[in-house]
Amino acid sequence: MLFLVLGIFSLFSLTDGTCTFPTQLEGLWTSSHNGDMTFNSTHVDYPVGATGGNLIFECYSTTGTKYIAKSQVFPLFSSFAMAVMCFDASLLKTSLYQMNIYTSKLADANYQRIKYVTTSTTVTDAVACDDNANTEFHLLVKNGSLSDVTIQCPDVLLGSFTLTFNETSCVNDTGALEVCDDNTLMTFNHTACSTKIAYSDGGNLQCVYSSAVGSAQRVHVYNLDTTTDESTYYRFTCLMLESSGGRVIGTQHPQDCLSTQTSTSVDSPGGTLNMTASQTCVPTTSQSSVATAAIVAGVLVTLVVLTVVGLIIGYFCWKAKCKKEKVEPRKGLPPTSTGMPSFLSHHMDSGKPQGFQSMKREPSNSTLLSDSRANLILTPSTLHPNYISKHDALEIPVPLDANKGILPPLGNLDGSQLSLLHNDETAMTGRKHQSKGHAKKKKKGTKTKKH
Ligand SMILES: *[C@@H]1O[C@H](CO)[C@@H](O)[C@H](O)[C@H]1NC(C)=O
Ligand SMILES: *[C@@H]1O[C@H](CO)[C@@H](O)[C@H](O)[C@H]1NC(C)=O
Ligand SMILES: *[C@@H]1O[C@H](CO)[C@@H](O)[C@H](O)[C@H]1NC(C)=O
Ligand SMILES: *[C@@H]1O[C@H](CO)[C@@H](O)[C@H](O)[C@H]1NC(C)=O
Ligand SMILES: *[C@@H]1O[C@H](CO)[C@@H](O)[C@H](O)[C@H]1NC(C)=O
Ligand SMILES: *[C@@H]1O[C@H](CO)[C@@H](O)[C@H](O)[C@H]1NC(C)=O
Repeated sequence: MLFLVLGIFSLFSLTDGTCTFPTQLEGLWTSSHNGDMTFNSTHVDYPVGATGGNLIFECYSTTGTKYIAKSQVFPLFSSFAMAVMCFDASLLKTSLYQMNIYTSKLADANYQRIKYVTTSTTVTDAVACDDNANTEFHLLVKNGSLSDVTIQCPDVLLGSFTLTFNETSCVNDTGALEVCDDNTLMTFNHTACSTKIAYSDGGNLQCVYSSAVGSAQRVHVYNLDTTTDESTYYRFTCLMLESSGGRVIGTQHPQDCLSTQTSTSVDSPGGTLNMTASQTCVPTTSQSSVATAAIVAGVLVTLVVLTVVGLIIGYFCWKAKCKKEKVEPRKGLPPTSTGMPSFLSHHMDSGKPQGFQSMKREPSNSTLLSDSRANLILTPSTLHPNYISKHDALEIPVPLDANKGILPPLGNLDGSQLSLLHNDETAMTGRKHQSKGHAKKKKKGTKTKKH
């Protein structure tokens, strides 16, 4: 054990980041495939079940829009290894990212898309991105922002259904699904089912993201259970649904949809849904779009009227004031003052740079902050200080999410897990690469017997 710990610390600082992740990706995310993921500008903290702890990947290089990330060194099979992965991330909307990982699934890491490599491996695009054709994707929902990403469930789901689950559970349509009460929320009644539907104990799932795949609709739903174990109950479920013969049929798969998944077929531990609607509640699009147009028009007209009135009032006020001031300067002001409170006049003789002196003062919506060097910082007070960008403030100490120290990931890796890994050693795909690399070397160095 001491050996392992020493190993972790001595080899810890081998990686050196050469790229950064998008600013918007920074923070704590709930991933569809892998629990919590914490990004900062250079690192992503990624729970990798098989290693018994989190791996902390550092952005290592980029290729096109893809990031190659490399983990810290950890003990593996009585040696040392690193994990690599290759992914891209695209912002679907505020608080929602789509993540595609182009590293093939690894049996030794619960089929997560990472690859173990030896510490001496040169991490190239080819090593890390060994499944560029992968179309399976994951979602990242910003922690605490579920309400931002909740959508109306796709039309195929908008109804009150009775259903049979996985052919052998709640047969004869004795299960139920209600989506009309709240068309963003699926509420299952699985009292009569032998298996809970959609890997949810409570049966309440929020629609988050939906896209068409041929004639089917692929929809990611977010389980509202307080906790999920990601083995029986999952935070995310992906459904592939379709209308067929007056019924709605579909399949479910935990976490994400599989590329091979259709509305009638899915690999284990997936399941099938076969539903019939007693009522549908699809909003009539023509009506709703007319209503929307009316609201938009009303708001626009109001805005225009208000703007015109404001301009007229403003013009007359300004005119009256100017005339008055030309005649006699207002009392109580220094002789140099124009009487217009548009400058930080109290700051004029403190020797600050010119640009700072000429900053506009906006007392109604600004806050004057002060940092440790007594520089004054002008920021919009409506923003939380953590979210102020460089454009909004002259100088601001940006607090970095520094409370996430790098944990030795395998501190809690016990002997049984190690031996489990060891037994499966032949299945390790990283080893394939390793032996390939060695094979090359061996060809050259057979006679010198370097190994
Ligand atoms: C990012 O996270 C890593 C690991 O958690 C940490 O070592 C690093 O200092 C962090 N970087 C910043 C800029 O906060
Ligand atoms: C995510 O945010 C919620 C509040 O919205 C909080 O209760 C929860 O602890 C957070 N999760 C983590 C892992 O910090
Ligand atoms: C399902 O319905 C059929 C026909 O109505 C009936 O024969 C069968 O017993 C029912 N199965 C169950 C489990 O109720
Ligand atoms: C759920 O279904 C059962 C019958 O299977 C029914 O008795 C119960 O009232 C239903 N619960 C709700 C909340 O509708
Ligand atoms: C559905 O049934 C199949 C076998 O028919 C099984 O492999 C699968 O695990 C079941 N799914 C669920 C969620 O129970
Ligand atoms: C769904 O259930 C209906 C009625 O029991 C049945 O006719 C149909 O074949 C089922 N569809 C699938 C895809 O299992």
